[in-house]
Amino acid sequence: MSDTLLVTGASGHLGQRVIAHLLDTNKVPANKIIATTRSPESLSALAAKGVTVRKADFDNAASLSTAFAGAQRLLLISTDTLGRPGHRLAQHKNALEAAINAGVKHVVYTSMPMPKNSPLLIAPDHLGTEHALAASSLTWTILRNCWYMENLFMSLPQALADGKLYTAAGDGKIAYISRDDLGRAAAAALACHNGNKGIYTLTGSEAFSTENIARLASAAVNKPLDVIQVSVEDLIRGMVAGAGIPEAIAVEIASFDTNTKVHRVAAVTGDFRALTGIAPQKLSEWLAANNATLARA
Ligand SMILES: NC(=O)c1ccc[n+]([C@@H]2O[C@H](COP(=O)([O-])OP(=O)(O)OC[C@H]3O[C@@H](n4cnc5c(N)ncnc54)[C@H](OP(=O)(O)O)[C@@H]3O)[C@@H](O)[C@H]2O)c1
Repeated sequence: MSDTLLVTGASGHLGQRVIAHLLDTNKVPANKIIATTRSPESLSALAAKGVTVRKADFDNAASLSTAFAGAQRLLLISTDTLGRPGHRLAQHKNALEAAINAGVKHVVYTSMPMPKNSPLLIAPDHLGTEHALAASSLTWTILRNCWYMENLFMSLPQALADGKLYTAAGDGKIAYISRDDLGRAAAAALACHNGNKGIYTLTGSEAFSTENIARLASAAVNKPLDVIQVSVEDLIRGMVAGAGIPEAIAVEIASFDTNTKVHRVAAVTGDFRALTGIAPQKLSEWLAANNATLARA
């Protein structure tokens, strides 16, 4: 391995797992890894291991070429900006332009399943970034990451406490995959020497409806859990009135259910195994490993 690998957003949950898999699974020497983040002070443990840690904020375009200098392959982790349509795409375009200026050859990007013509309100940012990559001089790998099993932490603890899980997703299914598996796949894509263009849709080994999830979670923590199907409008009203979530954010969150309902995150693929050589973690295993956290509420 002679290429220097750079991971943006390295202090995020996914970024940390990617760096761990680069070091431990792919045996990339620490001095061949650059970790960029808005908060370098939070990565002092990585710096102590010999990883180069630099500050990079996609909102500060002028600083990025220096931050990316010396890297040949770069993992662009999509940012978490919500409620500002188009801002994330502008951030990603800043990063891509800086990568080209810094001499980066290959970019790996974390996208989402089926971003084209999607009812999901964050989809245009992902599709726009994919298009920007395709139009660039870079070679690229697009990782269309299905939804994290860890997203269930956002809904299940409260639902288990109330005994009710509200959804507007109908019988739509989600091919959940663990965040650690996505970190493993991203590390494999970044570390491999294959410069060919490619799109991988990374999913777990099975897709689950909300009813399926409720039954599994209920059994895992031994508490009753009923699924309550509601309209998207009622889901939004519940988030705004019940949980105090700003309406623009609630509308964005509810569009995930609309997207699920029309079966856009249900397809199971073998792409995770193709990249990593192993099977993804099963949801039942993940639930068993996390039932204490899920039952806490
Ligand atoms: N597939 C899914 O189910 C799912 C779920 C949630 C999120 N996501 C997407 O996947 C990404 C990684 O997930 P995660 O779990 O690691 O999320 P996270 O822990 O919330 O991390 C957010 C990430 O966004 C980066 N970021 C935010 N603003 C930035 C900026 N101005 N410039 C550069 N980087 C910026 C952060 O980097 P630093 O803090 O290190 O600067 C960090 O890597 C998210 O940002 C989001 O786009 C996917």
